[in-house]
Amino acid sequence: MVQVVKVWCEHHEPNTIGIGESQPRISWTTAGEERDWQQTSYEIEVTHLDGSLIDSVKVDSSDSRLVPWPGKALTSREQVNLRVRVSGVGADAAGVVSSNISEASAPIRVEAGLLQPEDWKCSLIEPNESTEILPEKRHRPVTFRRHIQCPIDVAIARARLYITAHGIYEARINDSRVGDHILAPGWTSYQSRLTYQTYDITPNLLSGQDNEIQVDVAEGWFCGSLAFTRRHNIYGSRLGFIAMIVVELENRETICIGSDDGWRWAHGPIVEAGLLDGETYDAREMLHSETVWKNVQTNQEFSSYSRLLTAPDGPPIRKTQEFEVREIIKSPSGKTILDFGQNFAGWIKVKQVDGAAGTTIKFQFAEVLENGEIGTRPLRSAKCLDTLILDGNGPIYWEPKFTFHGFRYVEVTGWPEESKTPLTSQNFVGVVVHTDMQVTGNFRCSNPLLNQLHSNIVWSMRGNFVGIPTDCPQRDERLGWTGDINVFGDTAAYLFDVSGMLTSWLKDMVIEQKEAGGVVPLVIPYILGDFGPGKSAEAVWGDVAVMLPWTLYTTTGDTSMLVRHYESMKDWLNSIPRSETTGLWKQDGFKLADWLDPSAPPDDPVNAMTDMYMVCDSFLVHVTALMVKIAATLNKSQEEQKFYQDQSANLRQMFADEYITPSGRLACDTQTAYALAIEFDLFNSPQQQSHAAERLSMLIRQRNKFKIATGFAGTPYLGHALTKVGKSNVFYRMLLHRECPSWLYPVTMGATTVWERWNSMLPDGSINPGDMTSFNHYALGSVASWMHQTICGLKPVDAGWKTFKVEPVPGGNLQWAEAEYHSVYGRCRVRWEIKNNPDKNQQMLWLEVVVPLNTKCHVHLPGSKDSIIVGSGIRQWEVDYHPEEWPVRALLPPFKPADDELPVDEVLQHGW
Ligand code: BGC
Repeated sequence: MVQVVKVWCEHHEPNTIGIGESQPRISWTTAGEERDWQQTSYEIEVTHLDGSLIDSVKVDSSDSRLVPWPGKALTSREQVNLRVRVSGVGADAAGVVSSNISEASAPIRVEAGLLQPEDWKCSLIEPNESTEILPEKRHRPVTFRRHIQCPIDVAIARARLYITAHGIYEARINDSRVGDHILAPGWTSYQSRLTYQTYDITPNLLSGQDNEIQVDVAEGWFCGSLAFTRRHNIYGSRLGFIAMIVVELENRETICIGSDDGWRWAHGPIVEAGLLDGETYDAREMLHSETVWKNVQTNQEFSSYSRLLTAPDGPPIRKTQEFEVREIIKSPSGKTILDFGQNFAGWIKVKQVDGAAGTTIKFQFAEVLENGEIGTRPLRSAKCLDTLILDGNGPIYWEPKFTFHGFRYVEVTGWPEESKTPLTSQNFVGVVVHTDMQVTGNFRCSNPLLNQLHSNIVWSMRGNFVGIPTDCPQRDERLGWTGDINVFGDTAAYLFDVSGMLTSWLKDMVIEQKEAGGVVPLVIPYILGDFGPGKSAEAVWGDVAVMLPWTLYTTTGDTSMLVRHYESMKDWLNSIPRSETTGLWKQDGFKLADWLDPSAPPDDPVNAMTDMYMVCDSFLVHVTALMVKIAATLNKSQEEQKFYQDQSANLRQMFADEYITPSGRLACDTQTAYALAIEFDLFNSPQQQSHAAERLSMLIRQRNKFKIATGFAGTPYLGHALTKVGKSNVFYRMLLHRECPSWLYPVTMGATTVWERWNSMLPDGSINPGDMTSFNHYALGSVASWMHQTICGLKPVDAGWKTFKVEPVPGGNLQWAEAEYHSVYGRCRVRWEIKNNPDKNQQMLWLEVVVPLNTKCHVHLPGSKDSIIVGSGIRQWEVDYHPEEWPVRALLPPFKPADDELPVDEVLQHGW
């Protein structure tokens, strides 16, 4: 029997309270054993809890994703119950076709937040004196406090806390933490958008009693010191917060307490908390009955701030996992180092320690060891140091809350010898912190090194999706670099449900782009002030304005994403400085382009093999071609569609004139140049393209000996390009190569995340001398998209995965592989295995595909020309398998060892 198993609104987690949409679109997932089941209609019932008004609609449609809200729009704070029932037609296990109607889903609660600025009946309150510690202008965190008396005889029906801060906050009621959000409100372009959070505090408040509410606020992104500019007070120089507590009583009375001058403030035990530098907690400064609480001031500009308040678009940052210490290391110099065995973003918690008052314990965070000691040079100016000072009043438990670090190792100094709990691994826990996106995709195969690579990619995504998509979580950057997410977008959208978080980030991108006059700044939110290249047009980075909304549309099928971004896409294209004669990029100054290809010297990351303008122009032709598709998808006027068709054709021709020889060689004889030209369809004829394909393969086999030669721009496309021209086996060889530079080189060096540079750590174990050397950058992990889409062959056909494809290309030394993508419709799964068939004396390929209800899958079996279209259900095939040449050999001069005499393992190691 088909069942509706999950219902949600927009990109929110089911049952999220305080959503910002008055007519949120609704999606659901169905589950059941039916084969070839297609939904024929749906029914949505909305029960308005205020006056029991019921809206219900029945629509004949197979849509189950982002369908329109039925009936009356929600008002601020309104609650409704929503249920979904579907009908459809499919076959049972015996193949008997019938139509059926599901039971109605369990009701989900939909609750609007504060939808109008006037709903905020409160003020922005701030300490009445500066919290800055000079000369650095760090702000010492503050605690705000107020008491709420709840009436004696009436029970509380519903209580909500709506809250945000200038800074990052944590709220507590009667000493227990409110909600599970971390680093709230996260980071947005605060000058234009400040998200508020809604918490259910019904269980926190005690009826008939005095309730104490406390809100701690630290500098966070609002007035903390950010990035390499290390400027403080970027958005304002005052810590503060805005809150409304709304308590509805059973007798229908409502008590509303806002942030107002009835609050008081004091400094508590957190004496310092910076995102980059770390947190210092001095237990001697704990708040107590004698603490002097000072008056607050209400900010006179509140009405202009209240217009900026907006509900979040996606899930919050949370603690998502905990780690035990894997090992305690004694370093050569005698230091004590905790090794968590995994590089991640977050912090550590100390389960128990006690010692004399004033005992100071320091925790220095680092990603790697060099010569057995923690390597902190890559952190640059970020101190990444937490400090705990004991009060001598017995054991304390401690963890920070207003900072985070990117680390695997922690050097501990000052642990008191007299502590009843000695420094053992049991005393610490690693806490993983990031935006709590739902996992949607995975991959596994028979090669443990590839599995580790995939795991590293997932971990780099987890470490860099902390509110916004960042470059790295450790050094003095942690910025929303547009190019990084642009090249990784495809992989990200497969691995996790990024739609909510990136919807939010893209809103900020549009804001910052407008403020920069159409150019997309390099980082979003933009905080680099007059930093040189910050607001100049950069291909690949700025192309995110077109490419990321397109990627999200492809994954979610949400056309409104394209509608919302269409003007921004046009503005971006119009802002690109063009050559008057060709319309290509005007060649003027340096471009980031194929940033950090392996030939770039440590101190010159743009000095790549591939001409920077050739890269820019390849992307320009590509994004213009995307505009043709987007204008058509949005049904723009014929004139507008023709404009982009003409632009696209002209630019392709100009590109060819500038960079392609008549037979198909490129002006730059590099992996990146050929990969982009093949993948972006830049050739004028199939002959040119196959000539180019041969040349690319030749370069890889002869000049590069299977080593990678691409940077940020070429890396996502190399594998896809080789597959497109039927040379997947060449890419298998590159992917499985282990010598530096390659994807598996870091894995063989013990990496647990993706590195920024192909050689962030050199083969001798020393850290790359470049001052830009992170061990947790997702960009080069964009190769995972090839693992999903080619090794397993899993990809959408229609935007949104209603129709998807399974077209696996087994190869390399893999014996099996499997992948799963949780689409809105359910799980799309593929697994293949190579088996020996002794009867036939040959290898067979066994393939299993799971197709969710209400979708279709085009299955393309290796070796066959056509695809089979199947509906929901589990299906298996077994076909003859004729492996391609493996390993593909390098083209070597005759004096090198005869490679076919070498063991495969050695071949992969050395590129023979
Ligand atoms: C960042 C990169 C970024 C680049 C562009 C670096 O410092 O870490 O990932 O895209 O700058 O300039």
